[in-house]
Amino acid sequence: MKSSCTMDSMILWARRKSFILTGIVALVLGLAGMAAHAADAELSKEDKACLSCHDKEGLVKTLESGELLSLQISTQTFVESMHLGTSCEDCHSDLDAKTHGKEKKSIKSKRDFSLSMRESCRTCHKKKFTEYEDSVHAALIKEGSKKAPMCSDCHNPHTVRSTKILQPIAQTPCAKCHEEIFKAYAKDVHGQERIANGKIAPLCAGCHQAHAVKAASLGDGVKDACLSCHKNAVEKHMDWLPNTARHFEAISCPACHAPTAQRRVNLRLYDGTEKRQVSEKTGVPQFARLTDAADTQDMGLDERALWSLLKEFNRDGVQGRTVLRGRLEVRSGVEAHQLSDKSKAIKDCNFCHKEGAAPFQSVTLTIAGPDGRPLRHGIQKEVLSSLTSMESVRGFYAIGSTRIKLLDTLLVMVVLGAICVPLGHMTVKRMFKSVREKLEAEKLAARSQPGGPTLPGAPSDTGDTTKQQE
Ligand code: HEC
Ligand code: HEC
Ligand code: HEC
Ligand code: HEC
Ligand code: HEC
Ligand code: HEC
Ligand code: HEC
Ligand code: HEC
Ligand code: HEC
Repeated sequence: MKSSCTMDSMILWARRKSFILTGIVALVLGLAGMAAHAADAELSKEDKACLSCHDKEGLVKTLESGELLSLQISTQTFVESMHLGTSCEDCHSDLDAKTHGKEKKSIKSKRDFSLSMRESCRTCHKKKFTEYEDSVHAALIKEGSKKAPMCSDCHNPHTVRSTKILQPIAQTPCAKCHEEIFKAYAKDVHGQERIANGKIAPLCAGCHQAHAVKAASLGDGVKDACLSCHKNAVEKHMDWLPNTARHFEAISCPACHAPTAQRRVNLRLYDGTEKRQVSEKTGVPQFARLTDAADTQDMGLDERALWSLLKEFNRDGVQGRTVLRGRLEVRSGVEAHQLSDKSKAIKDCNFCHKEGAAPFQSVTLTIAGPDGRPLRHGIQKEVLSSLTSMESVRGFYAIGSTRIKLLDTLLVMVVLGAICVPLGHMTVKRMFKSVREKLEAEKLAARSQPGGPTLPGAPSDTGDTTKQQE
């Protein structure tokens, strides 16, 4: 690896040197026109031959789709590009020298042509190619998307400059397709910081990666990116937020840091055995079929429908135990990019831990689709506070809003503790430990009763949960 890098740079250096030499000669001769000629001199005879036809204005071709494809390649920009050392034929190896330019070749559309050329980057950029092949964009193309990007949508092979310089930020290739998100980003803390102070703040790829882009809500990739820059974030939150780890798991960062956003609870189907989100099986989609069948009126699933759906995912012979994991998140992709400075972030416990709290008024159920993006179905919000569903909505008790009385009382104590200071973290932890143990004991007791819930491993109701009307 190293030696090839050195080779590359030596070749580049040698090229540059000869470029400078030729430049000087041109200057000495005092012929203005020679500059362009000097650039030409960088090119091989073969490349020059291609460009003798192709660097002509107005060279266009009408495709079957009716689109016009410009066939003009500017010698000047090609010579200035990072691909100067790459020959036309390295990428265009399939041209037939005998007939080329003489016979008309039919091409369906621009997209079709790009697709036919897409393998050409593989030989020299193996690593990027492999990363990209594992991305949501590549998966979308496999599914037949006409809009998802391949290499040449983000990098023009004939004009590519160093990707280290993306100035102004609108030059990021992501902006042209995710326009609304870009606009939101450009106004938020990171966009503003980037505009003011340059590269330390993330551009799109800083949080999502450029090549191995994954569906944003899948796994912890984006959250890990946040924490890799904000290394002391967990500690800073621990100063005021009890059980920060649990809150970070149950709440996406934008849900507190995009103060104007609307929020919702996302109940994710989660494989408790494999410890990851359940994915829709390719070929035999069942999520849409099951949820549509259970909700013919399209009112959102009620608790009973949700319960039977879970049973379906836990039938005999189905591998892995499927549970629901709640997460509080913002409702739209645009809102996830409206992060503001810390003074505006949500800090008031009552914002969430209060009966009828706004974030709990919208609920969806999701499974990871074949490309990783979530497939959704609406859930009636009452499900969150209902007794039956508490059994399946494991690990998502937003105290107060979902009305577990015992925990409610505890919350008051925690809040008081935070104010009165002497109740340190240890005390709080111990308090929770005893509550948890109590709950666990009650669950166990309930499970051993006949007629208890049949879902394997699902916790049962506790004597302390009180069902209330909205
Ligand atoms: C004699 C002039 C000439 C030369 C030399 C030439 N081309 Fe072309 N090229 C054309 C014309 C004319 C077309 C449009 C053909 C058509 O309408 O089907 C074309 C089309 C193309 C296309 C569009 C796709 C296709 O196959 O039609 C590519 C890519 C291309 N040329 C690349 C090259 C490369 C690379 C070289 C050098 C190896 C080269 N050309 C040399 C004239 C030329
Ligand atoms: C690094 C690989 C690479 C090199 C080097 C390269 N091309 Fe291309 N070329 C491509 C790809 C990929 C496309 C398809 C463009 C797309 O997807 O938009 C293309 C498209 C074209 C087209 C069709 C018009 C267009 O822009 O889509 C022409 C003409 C062409 N190339 C000529 C050339 C000539 C002439 C050279 C040498 C001076 C050259 N190419 C060098 C990869 C390359
Ligand atoms: C024949 C080998 C070859 C092929 C094929 C090739 N490249 Fe390159 N590419 C290079 C070299 C060499 C460089 C310069 C690397 C350097 O100096 O760091 C480069 C640089 C780049 C850069 C800039 C990297 C940076 O440092 O910012 C991008 C982006 C790029 N190539 C994209 C592509 C795409 C897209 C394709 C396919 C259309 C492609 N390349 C095909 C050899 C190739
Ligand atoms: C969705 C847009 C997008 C697609 C698709 C894409 N890239 Fe990139 N690429 C970027 C961005 C943005 C950067 C610069 C930021 C970075 O590296 O994090 C980059 C950087 C690069 C670099 C320079 C990396 C470095 O570390 O020096 C190369 C080489 C490259 N891309 C090649 C490719 C190839 C080959 C493909 C196709 C397999 C491809 N890219 C597909 C957006 C894209
Ligand atoms: C500071 C980190 C960060 C930056 C910078 C960032 N994003 Fe995001 N992006 C996120 C988060 C967080 C989410 C929501 C993830 C979740 O649901 O947990 C997201 C979600 C998305 C989604 C999915 C939207 C949906 O409908 O669910 C897309 C697409 C996206 N981002 C594109 C971009 C683009 C394009 C840029 C650059 C203009 C960008 N992101 C910049 C953090 C970032
Ligand atoms: C050529 C157009 C195009 C470009 C360029 C592009 N994307 Fe996308 N991207 C799409 C399409 C189409 C989808 C699927 C529809 C959607 O989810 O918006 C998608 C999906 C995504 C998703 C998954 C959305 C989800 O629901 O989780 C993320 C994340 C994403 N893109 C980020 C990026 C980033 C980061 C860049 C730049 C490095 C980028 N995109 C560049 C077209 C593009
Ligand atoms: C429950 C709401 C909430 C959640 C969830 C949350 N934050 Fe915060 N965050 C805040 C509040 C409120 C502040 C301001 C605290 C203060 O200044 O007193 C803050 C401060 C910050 C700061 C500034 C720290 C400093 O003082 O330097 C960063 C960075 C930050 N959060 C990142 C994150 C990240 C990354 C996540 C997701 C992993 C996240 N936050 C999740 C509410 C939250
Ligand atoms: C590439 C590094 C990087 C990544 C990734 C990143 N940030 Fe930042 N973030 C910064 C920088 C730099 C600033 C501006 C300087 C500062 O205030 O620390 C900033 C500022 C912030 C602020 C404002 C802090 C304040 O003091 O008011 C918040 C909140 C924040 N980021 C949250 C997030 C969240 C949430 C994510 C993930 C979705 C994230 N960041 C991802 C670098 C990053
Ligand atoms: C943005 C909404 C939100 C805010 C603001 C918020 N919480 Fe929470 N909190 C939650 C959610 C959601 C859970 C559910 C976690 C679970 O059930 O596992 C939770 C769980 C808890 C728990 C139980 C943790 C455990 O050990 O299981 C306590 C205690 C708690 N919050 C206290 C607070 C306090 C005190 C504040 C204010 C300083 C606060 N929360 C602010 C949403 C929030």
